[in-house]
Amino acid sequence: MMTLKVNGREHQVDAEADTPLLYVLRDDLKLNAAKYGCGLGQCGSCTVIVDGKAVLSCVVPMVLLEGKQVTTLEGLGTIAEPAPIQRAFMEEQAAQCGYCIPGMMMRAQALLQKNSKPTDEQIRAELEPHLCRCGTHMRILRAVHRAARLMDTADVSPAANGSAR
Ligand code: FES
Repeated sequence: MMTLKVNGREHQVDAEADTPLLYVLRDDLKLNAAKYGCGLGQCGSCTVIVDGKAVLSCVVPMVLLEGKQVTTLEGLGTIAEPAPIQRAFMEEQAAQCGYCIPGMMMRAQALLQKNSKPTDEQIRAELEPHLCRCGTHMRILRAVHRAARLMDTADVSPAANGSAR
């Protein structure tokens, strides 16, 4: 048994030390926002935030997560009360098939937590590990800028900072 803290809640999970975080999130905790794309750390669709940093959960083994805070897209907002990053992606209609979008949002969220006004170049560089086959890249870029503006004016919820919701 291992203790895993996700979205402010502690979970006891029966996982091997080398089990990827993504499997535990999806299979054990039923948190399905993070997606399995390549399983090799090459597409970005499984991205979550660990202690404020975007990580590829398909290649992070459980043994490295003791005492860390994991935040998934489910921890940012709800359908009724979306977080600024979620609202911005919806308002810019940045998703087409949508498979890559949860990972994109999590990396953008981590970026905005450390840099509240990123430039185009900084956003492009940060999102570089993420593959999108639909080609909504310009909308995604606009959505991250919109989220920055929303976060500037909004009360940023505790969950958006990586703690409990
Ligand atoms: Fe993790 Fe592709 S599924 S990077």
